[in-house]
Amino acid sequence: MRKTKIYGHRGSKGSFPENTLLSFEQAIKQGVDGLEIDVHLTKDGEVVVIHDEFLDRTTNGSGLIKEYDLKEIKKLSAGSKFTELELYEPHWQQETVPTLQEVFQLLAPYNIDLNIELKTYLVNYEEIEEKVLAIVNQFGNSRKVIYSSFHLPSLIKLKQLDASANIAWLLNQPDTHLKEYMDGLNFESLHINKDIVLSDRSHWTHLSSHIRVWTANSREEIQQLLEMSVNSIITDYPERALSLRNER
Ligand code: G3P
Ligand code: CA
Repeated sequence: MRKTKIYGHRGSKGSFPENTLLSFEQAIKQGVDGLEIDVHLTKDGEVVVIHDEFLDRTTNGSGLIKEYDLKEIKKLSAGSKFTELELYEPHWQQETVPTLQEVFQLLAPYNIDLNIELKTYLVNYEEIEEKVLAIVNQFGNSRKVIYSSFHLPSLIKLKQLDASANIAWLLNQPDTHLKEYMDGLNFESLHINKDIVLSDRSHWTHLSSHIRVWTANSREEIQQLLEMSVNSIITDYPERALSLRNER
């Protein structure tokens, strides 16, 4: 029987500063099958790994990412805002906003999947799809890379640029025509909010091998998704999900 994969959401977000190399290293140490990361573009067109369009919540900077060059963003701390996390240590202050290239360099020795979410629904980043694909082609040939987005035009563009790209539509609400979309647009999978899946489990069973579910964190949610044999679980607590998966 196919084993449900466990993907670390923004690394190991529940315990370490999200979308940092530290958080990715920790998730890898825990044994994840994949990592989920978010990407934006800097003013000088570099692909950086950070969740929000703004710097304010996760760094000691302020303003829109697209208004700063990489060199300026690299001066910021991506760890100092996370003092409320139980494991916080002062050296976290040295974490910076990673580039996509740095993530690939970190992953090089490991055979794990990379899910790159393109955050393209609020800000228009010119040619972000081309830039992401170029980096993946440079580094990512030997691993499974999945591109996800809430923004369908980005996924369609990726598929036009590279017919072999694994694209996954991110969904926050149910849609009755999903199977038709999947087949018509040649999606590799759907990435679905756990509340949609868990509120109507029988509805999703026939698609379970094609869905990755986010962001399932409690033991009960994770158990239910494991019982459904979903393709993958995206979680802030990969250690918890891995231990529940591995004891089955
Ligand atoms: O990729 C799943 C999930 O990360 C989507 O939502 O806001 O956490 O990026 P968000
Ligand atoms: Ca994300």
